[in-house]
Amino acid sequence: MSYLELRDIRKSYYLGNQEFKVLKGINLNFERGEFVSILGESGGGKSTLMNIIGGLDSNYEGDVFLKGESLRHETTKQLDAYRRQTIGFIFQNFNLISHLTILQNVMVSLEMTSLSHAEQEERAKELLDKVGLTEHIKKFPNQLSGGQKQRVAIARALASDPEIIIADEPTGALDSENTKEILQLLYQIAAEGKLVITVTHSQTVADYGTRIVRLADGQISEDIELKPAYPADSEHELATHTLRFGATLKMALDNMKYNWKRNLLIIIGAAIGIFSVILMQGLGNGVQGYMNHEIYSQINPNAVQVAKNVSSDELAEGSKKVNLTNQDRQRFEKIKNVKDVQEGYYVQGGTRLQNGKKTANLQMMQTYNDTIKKKSIKQGHAPKNGEILLTKENAQKLNKKDTNALIGKKITYTQTVMNDQKQPVQLKQDLTVSGIASANSGSTSVTYKTLKQMYADQNIKLAPNFMTVVIKGNAKNVKPVQTKIKDYKTGKKATYTITGAGAIVDTLNTYIDLAVNVLAAIAGISLLVSAIMIIVVLYISVSERTKEIGILRALGASKGSIRNLFFSEAFFIGLFAAILAIALALLIQVGANSLSQAGIHYAIMQISGSNIAFGAIVSIVISLLAALSPAGRAARLDPIESLSYE
Ligand SMILES: Nc1ncnc2c1ncn2[C@@H]1O[C@H](COP(=O)(O)OP(=O)(O)OP(=O)(O)O)[C@@H](O)[C@H]1O
Ligand SMILES: [Mg+2]
Repeated sequence: MSYLELRDIRKSYYLGNQEFKVLKGINLNFERGEFVSILGESGGGKSTLMNIIGGLDSNYEGDVFLKGESLRHETTKQLDAYRRQTIGFIFQNFNLISHLTILQNVMVSLEMTSLSHAEQEERAKELLDKVGLTEHIKKFPNQLSGGQKQRVAIARALASDPEIIIADEPTGALDSENTKEILQLLYQIAAEGKLVITVTHSQTVADYGTRIVRLADGQISEDIELKPAYPADSEHELATHTLRFGATLKMALDNMKYNWKRNLLIIIGAAIGIFSVILMQGLGNGVQGYMNHEIYSQINPNAVQVAKNVSSDELAEGSKKVNLTNQDRQRFEKIKNVKDVQEGYYVQGGTRLQNGKKTANLQMMQTYNDTIKKKSIKQGHAPKNGEILLTKENAQKLNKKDTNALIGKKITYTQTVMNDQKQPVQLKQDLTVSGIASANSGSTSVTYKTLKQMYADQNIKLAPNFMTVVIKGNAKNVKPVQTKIKDYKTGKKATYTITGAGAIVDTLNTYIDLAVNVLAAIAGISLLVSAIMIIVVLYISVSERTKEIGILRALGASKGSIRNLFFSEAFFIGLFAAILAIALALLIQVGANSLSQAGIHYAIMQISGSNIAFGAIVSIVISLLAALSPAGRAARLDPIESLSYE
């Protein structure tokens, strides 16, 4: 059994229906220690044969046996491993990766071995030393002469210590001096006991070997042994694996560095979208916070007003349905975190204040309750029994010049109400002005007790038409209480409604949320543009790197690794775009807030941790999604076609 055996290899190319037979039944046996030169006319099928031996082409008839095992039994992955481990390729046009240094070019192959990183680097340096390039390891391929490039390629081919070296016209692009050096190296490899198969046009090259095989008309026309084969080495191929994810990440990063100007532009482009989304969310948080802050500086967030949920008709009739009872009070008191339930009454119209000749008709009067913040009382104090708190507006009607002079003075309060017989009755009482409240906080108010007494004086029993539920602790406790109250049903209808400023805050927040989401979605459209941009760039990258893909495949990288290479690139675009966007957004936040602090004493931009996380995740996910199609295309590229891509 020979080390490598070709049995009846046939291969045709088809142009349309027309068949072009290139190989017409090749039978050859090879042993390690041989230096075989394959000669033949141009277009005779030498490269085709080498691609078959090298496991790059599996679309042929016949069989290739390695140590008696047919390559036909191999899966795609096993063929990748065969190329990595058993085959070392050397090409006429060197096929080095132009954006990697000499050392990195050799390292690519070594990264697919089981050696540790330090061992890989040591071996790469050893191999480069062996081919005489120690001084050049930091150079890029375009900084080397042809002979030097081919020596790099030889070092790379030897990286995983393969048993077979396939060289397709390795000296075709070299002058005679360099040819000699390369042949010397190949000779040395064979002498060390490996199988070297070289395609050549040159008889001088062929004379270097141990054996000459001539190809003519798709068949072997001559097979001459010049010298006996060198003794085979003891087999010690390195264990290999395809490019690990870490390696593809690093390669992607290297490539991005190489094309840094273009990639920077892409990253900036992608960052704009993410940046706008983060900024919108931060602004939304800020505006919402500011609104709530403003409202809650006037009203107490821990007190909500609850009324019966009645129709406007029932309300107009003065139906008893609007009244809240002891049963309602008990319900509220039972809810978790409720500290107090206060009775309240409000009237619209029919109420009048009089100070001497001056009068003020009240559009609305409600009893004093805990939703009104003590802070909003600018002068004086909250009303006690027999007292009245005036809004600034009403106070001005009663004493234009000096509203403060009203405090402590008695004014006359009148209100027209219906008695139990539906007859209008007038309540009338002198009340002391307790204080003046700021214009936009609540209403002119008396205590519930004061009002109840006025009703009682006319033999009418006052029932509350709203209750103030006071909630203890943090403002966060408020929402669950509100929800509990809203959940009570009478039939299908909610029993209660939340009224007063607290209810507005909720609605307002809903609207702000909506507005922010709409703005963020509009900003999100620019993400679509980013995604398309990334797709285009990755497609360009794939076509620019077609040759590199072919090289990597020839070195034994799997399709999956090629795919990962482009996913890695996309990942970095997403990551860097996110970092840039976040940094920019935070910078704008600092600027905007220092302005808004000066103007409205409030930080109007509040980018939260989750906004940042959201931006980062969206950026990376979009980039990876954009990479799906280009990465798939790269993985599907045919390695032979890619290698011949110019
Ligand atoms: N992908 C392909 N599609 C169609 N025909 C092809 C393809 N690749 C090679 N051929 C044809 O197959 C024949 C053998 O090509 P091959 O490259 O193996 O020749 P070669 O012996 O290596 O020639 P050279 O010495 O010029 O490199 C040629 O006629 C070529 O045109
Ligand atoms: Mg060829």
